[in-house]
Amino acid sequence: MEPYIPLKTSLEVKGIQRTCINVAGILHSLAFFIRAGITTRDINRYCIEEYKKRGLVSSFLGFKGFPESICTSVNHVAAHGIPDNRVLMEGDILTVDLTAQLEGWHGDAAWTYRVGNLGPDARRVIKAAWHATSEGCRAAKAGGRFGDIGEAIQTAVARYGCQVLENFVGHGIGRSFHEEPMVLNKGEKGTGRPLVPGLVFTIEPIVTLGDVTVKTLEDGWTVVVEGGGLCAQYEHTLALGGSETRILTFPGGQAPWDYKTPPY
Ligand code: MF3
Ligand code: CO
Ligand code: CO
Repeated sequence: MEPYIPLKTSLEVKGIQRTCINVAGILHSLAFFIRAGITTRDINRYCIEEYKKRGLVSSFLGFKGFPESICTSVNHVAAHGIPDNRVLMEGDILTVDLTAQLEGWHGDAAWTYRVGNLGPDARRVIKAAWHATSEGCRAAKAGGRFGDIGEAIQTAVARYGCQVLENFVGHGIGRSFHEEPMVLNKGEKGTGRPLVPGLVFTIEPIVTLGDVTVKTLEDGWTVVVEGGGLCAQYEHTLALGGSETRILTFPGGQAPWDYKTPPY
């Protein structure tokens, strides 16, 4: 039997939206903070300070033993990088993933930042990741099916000759930060579970250049691409309504697909 998927009322979506607006606000402000010469620990400290100011509680700290409040994944680190004394250098790309709760509602988003001027590979993987998530979000409409999202993501990355890491998927979100359903980054249009109003979930393909084999480092968390290819990831939390989908972590009446490249 397929697992039960909790649907949210509009009041519940408002709660999640409040968290998401704050999470997105922090990601936005990080664009002005991240630069060559600072460490991922500095970014961690900055986010902890922002969480405190906004009354947010990190969903990561202590989650299955994760030791810090945010994830910072640099270059060929695909996911779950632990903030440390690594100094960012010109040309690096860095994904910051934030999940936090406010009044018991979780919000989840990630953004890949450019550190100074990038080489062609870094520019390409960022563009591919941006389009993958944007097109996935655009395909997420009540009346459709989850396969519509997966196919849109695959079509977008293929245009850049990039790949998606298969074992990392999106997820439902609400009172818990990982809920049903899993949101696959592949699929066929018109197949899969129906997309219905009240669903709240993330879209978060991790995109890489070339080799998709990953391994986890000794710290038990840091996932790297073995071939050393660069990785990028944009993640949004979305809420499906009857006639419109709201990208809760992209506020301001705009949608990610209005931008050809990430606005920062
Ligand atoms: N934020 C990730 C996600 O988007 C999960 C990270 S789990 C952690 O679902 F423990 F590493 F923080
Ligand atoms: Co996340
Ligand atoms: Co997530």
